[in-house]
Amino acid sequence: MEEKDGSAWYSTWFDSPFYHILYQHRNHSEAEKAVSTLLTFAGVKKGSVIMDLCCGKGRHAVFIEKAGNIVTGLDLSPASINYCKTFEKDNLHFDVHDMRKVYQADKFDYVFNLFTSFGYFDDQGNEQTLLAIKEGLKTGGKVIIDFLNVIPVIKGLPAEEVISLDGIDFYILKYLENNRIYKHIKFTHDGHEYSFCEEVNALQLNDFERYFEHTGFKLLSVSGDYDGSPFNEHQSKRLILLAEKK
Ligand SMILES: C[S@@+](CC[C@H](N)C(=O)[O-])C[C@H]1O[C@@H](n2cnc3c(N)ncnc32)[C@H](O)[C@@H]1O
Repeated sequence: MEEKDGSAWYSTWFDSPFYHILYQHRNHSEAEKAVSTLLTFAGVKKGSVIMDLCCGKGRHAVFIEKAGNIVTGLDLSPASINYCKTFEKDNLHFDVHDMRKVYQADKFDYVFNLFTSFGYFDDQGNEQTLLAIKEGLKTGGKVIIDFLNVIPVIKGLPAEEVISLDGIDFYILKYLENNRIYKHIKFTHDGHEYSFCEEVNALQLNDFERYFEHTGFKLLSVSGDYDGSPFNEHQSKRLILLAEKK
């Protein structure tokens, strides 16, 4: 059963400033490169209406708009959306929104879901997310899901490391349990001890194929990284899927 939103790990961790400290290397230059490749991968024409679903602090949304598109960034984290609102403009808007719900029906040419922003729920919740995405797309609209490639990740588990950033030592433990990848993050800051956990389903290509089949999407193509390289389940860093609303 899903936790209530207020206490679910994805509501607290992503809304905390510490998430942004730990992932600061996932920055604007990575996003700019990813967006440029993904726009080509998906065949996006200028002037498209695009949702950046789970946009975080908007690092991809700004470049999708800059490329000449009309962009709405959505995220569950009020802190991230408050930040994004400071650089809203004519073709770039942001809203707090839960990905499992329909935002606006039949409005979008594309939905981008980037940097492992999928697979947080059980099968029902994941499929509910895809159904909400489908509802938001125009007929023939497309979704891009940029997920981690779990096979090489799982090979390296369990794994422990300490990452020191901005004066904080993050103690990290990653492991696989019940086909979910867990990342425990512990640290002390200003005399307080913190503990967070990220969890994501270890979804593989065949799981996405099943989800797409159930929810009315046709898989169009698969790529293995932000440089557009083909997908190889043993070597690729990413599993990037492009699917069309049937
Ligand atoms: C791994 S981060 C990626 C953020 C952004 N795409 C990026 O690349 O910087 C996942 C994002 O999903 C958001 N998120 C988590 N659960 C969500 C939900 N139920 N609905 C909408 N957004 C959610 C988080 O707040 C977080 O910003």
